[in-house]
Amino acid sequence: MSAIESVLHEQRTFPPPESMAAAAAVSGMSGYQALVAEAHRDYEGFWARLARENLTWHTPFAKVLDESNAPFYTWFADGELNASYNCLDRHVEAGHGERTAIIFEADDGKVTHVSYADLLQRVGRFANALRKLGIERGDRVVIYMPMSIEGVVAMQACARIGATHSVVFGGFSSKSLNERLVDIGACALITADEQMRGGRALPLKSIADEALAMGGCEAVTDVIVYRRTGGKVDWHPGRDRWMHEIAETQASDCMPEWVSAEHPLFILYTSGSTGKPKGVQHSTGGYLLWAAQTMKWTFDWKPSDVFWCTADIGWVTGHSYITYGPLAIGATQVVFEGVPTYPDAGRFWKMIADHRVSVFYTAPTAIRSLIKAAESNAEVHPDRYDLSSLRILGTVGEPINPQAWMWYRKHVGGERCPVIDTWWQTETGGHMIAPLPGAIPAVPGSCTLPLPGILAAVVDETGQDVENGQGGILVIKRPWPAMARTIWDDPERFRTSYFPQELGGRLYLAGDGAVRDKDSAYFTIMGRIDDVLNVSGHRLGTMEIESALVAHELVAEAAVVGRPDDTTGEAVVAFVMLKHACPVGDEAARIARELRDWVGKEIGPIAKPKEIRFGDNLPKTRSGKIMRRLLRSIAKGEAVSQDTSTLENPGILEQLSTLAQ
Ligand code: WTA
Repeated sequence: MSAIESVLHEQRTFPPPESMAAAAAVSGMSGYQALVAEAHRDYEGFWARLARENLTWHTPFAKVLDESNAPFYTWFADGELNASYNCLDRHVEAGHGERTAIIFEADDGKVTHVSYADLLQRVGRFANALRKLGIERGDRVVIYMPMSIEGVVAMQACARIGATHSVVFGGFSSKSLNERLVDIGACALITADEQMRGGRALPLKSIADEALAMGGCEAVTDVIVYRRTGGKVDWHPGRDRWMHEIAETQASDCMPEWVSAEHPLFILYTSGSTGKPKGVQHSTGGYLLWAAQTMKWTFDWKPSDVFWCTADIGWVTGHSYITYGPLAIGATQVVFEGVPTYPDAGRFWKMIADHRVSVFYTAPTAIRSLIKAAESNAEVHPDRYDLSSLRILGTVGEPINPQAWMWYRKHVGGERCPVIDTWWQTETGGHMIAPLPGAIPAVPGSCTLPLPGILAAVVDETGQDVENGQGGILVIKRPWPAMARTIWDDPERFRTSYFPQELGGRLYLAGDGAVRDKDSAYFTIMGRIDDVLNVSGHRLGTMEIESALVAHELVAEAAVVGRPDDTTGEAVVAFVMLKHACPVGDEAARIARELRDWVGKEIGPIAKPKEIRFGDNLPKTRSGKIMRRLLRSIAKGEAVSQDTSTLENPGILEQLSTLAQ
């Protein structure tokens, strides 16, 4: 709670710079309030206006919102459009074909510019190649690729032919990839030979081969491979094809598939409270509308801007603020293959200077690690670089501590750029709560106020509003166009996870705790209230990691909790009981290493526990429930002050308190 208290006592406010407010899409508090009032007066009319303004419709919609099958809401359902047409063709048709769409910088520093006209041709060729393979509207295609122009092309090409893509982050293991291929019933997989990160080539194709060999995904008849490094790969004739070979023989003109606004554009897996990741399904129309509109509102995009979102296309931020949002509005953006610390921790700052980036969007975990690097090596301090092109800074993924916020503002933003802390989720499609740069005074550590049309609130366990100043559960009170439509193949889980009966069945439950300031009504996010950890901005379910641990032959039982971490926000701590006696000394260290690698293989390196503690048992209630709150205290190194009278085996606490690795 101490982080929240420090924000609550935060007195510093940073009003928008006057010149920015004057020229902003949403200008001043009055501009913001006018939009809020418009949505309040005529909710459907407000969204219909934005949908008409932001998107080009092949068939205009007549119906706006349909609530008859709540919580499976639909928006603009009788309207037809194509996401790729909206991201590419219409800009070229409007005479902006020569405008740079993507400035791609490779891991080794090589820069490639791609214009809108080029990108349209590349997408057209590849979309035709996918069609030739028999891939059609509604088919699911999994994309397991590095950050690349080709990754964006693959996503856009799927959208063009009405295939639903599901991008799996390149850091996930073969097991995780297999689970997703099976769950979604994919018919094709697009991958690369290898990916380059930090000067090293990492295999992707061989992991994909392993995933396919695990079985259950026999429906995958085509594996399309982008040749990134030319490294050696195994080849399965008849199944495997090079991306460039199948695309180069195709025409660049490709008729877009016109789909209903409700057609699933993509499914993206994310962690929830149970062991199985959820396939969050998004629509075409409502989703794209918000990706475009938030580019204009939250980032106040201007045609002269160079936008850079450092996220990976494997996460929702890379969907909304690389592949769809920036292209939908015809922006010029930087796409980066590598990591912020290679060849040194000045890479981000150098790239901002080289490409004259004006709007920069990154994660608190990156900021914190770059602060550390800058403090120990003056050479990579942002003060050393010409960052004068910047005008707006954004953050996303986890709460940003006021100290990091202030550093970001001062050393990266030169005290002139607003810092926009954007709260949102995979399920929300785009930004939900954020200080609009020309309108809302920012406060370090607070994401401030909901975007116009978004009815965010803080409620208690029964769904009643709590007073400002009191903590509670963050909810959204009305459906919005960009919200997830369902969980793939599990609508019941969608209903129970996001619209629980306890809250009345109509409120969208975000899974975060929040508090609003007594005076300003600003929101501060207090972190997850369910069994989800946030490690470096990545969502990990504790249950997923636990099931991975118990799948190891030595492990009898495991419990995973988070503890605060200076760099990664939260760190994974695992409490493990082995089938044989509790290990000590070197043996404990060896088994801990083995289990860590095991989790890396089962899920991916991001899920590896930072600490593993062994015990003869886990603290349980008499009814056999693991007492996680005790484990959380132990993980933090706190003295256990909670009531332990219901504990079956109190002696265990002491053993678990000693770090066994
Ligand atoms: C957390 C990422 C505080 C939150 C877009 C949310 C944040 C989860 C912020 C979603 C923020 C994201 N301040 N917390 N600005 N942004 N979160 O689905 O716990 O990967 O529920 O989407 O990240 O993570 P997801």
